[in-house]
Amino acid sequence: MSLKVEPILPRFGAELSGVDLIQPLDEETAEAIRQAQYRWGVTVWRDTGLTDETHVAFSRIFGDLFSAPAMLAKSRFTLREMFDAGNLDQQGEIASDERTRLYKRGDRLWHTDTSFMAQKSGWSLLRCVEAPPEGGATWFADARNAYDDLPPAMKDKLAGLEAEHVHAWSRRRAGMAYTEEEIDAMPAVRQPVVLTHPITGRKTIYVGSHARDIVGMDRAEGRALIDELVAWITQPQYVFSITYKPGDMSIWDNLAALHRGGDYDDVNHRRDMRRTTVKSPPGTHVGTVREPMAA
Ligand SMILES: [Fe+2]
Repeated sequence: MSLKVEPILPRFGAELSGVDLIQPLDEETAEAIRQAQYRWGVTVWRDTGLTDETHVAFSRIFGDLFSAPAMLAKSRFTLREMFDAGNLDQQGEIASDERTRLYKRGDRLWHTDTSFMAQKSGWSLLRCVEAPPEGGATWFADARNAYDDLPPAMKDKLAGLEAEHVHAWSRRRAGMAYTEEEIDAMPAVRQPVVLTHPITGRKTIYVGSHARDIVGMDRAEGRALIDELVAWITQPQYVFSITYKPGDMSIWDNLAALHRGGDYDDVNHRRDMRRTTVKSPPGTHVGTVREPMAA
């Protein structure tokens, strides 16, 4: 079997095919897939035929996987490595309460997965089991080339800066009723604004909807800078979307890309998406925890 690579944008994103992902892969094939992922940042595989079990097994070629904590393991899935990224509840019905819906709508803002955790995510592998008739795409933005293309003065400004990331901040921005004070009372994780990938050596702009403040900067000024960077990364030349049919899977490097869920009718249509998440590779900067601010 030989891996086929069809670029989506000239510098970012590719559709991969030619390998049966259900079967255990030999090391040469696994390495070819990893190299394609490093090169293109985001890939899509169509009609994989993967099950939860083979999805988890394939994901391991990229490294160690996160598991859902036991206390949150009341999930539809028997495998703890499988995270629910659709709009269904534990019974497999469309989640009907507004709070759950708002919580999930936070995923429609540009973000990187789990940037609010000291141990960051590397790869995310998102597989479609059921797709809505319209919408429900994933949008991706090329944070590496967006960094490379920054004016030199902006690169100088960003060098050494850190941002504080809090999960509740993105939920507030999506409409959940967290106050500023409540979020101040939560721990935050400090991450570099410009992150160097430990394997490719490429730099990426590492902010998104979980990034709340720039350390040492006035809040309004820091938030304006975060918004400016996200607007820069999400210019049309850096962005594409993937629309899914059952069996399709997208894979993205959270240390290379921002992503967001596309709109769809989440009240009336089912969207069953299942995700495994790979821990960032050894050598990645580990975020530092900022304790809750004093009231
Ligand atoms: Fe996400």
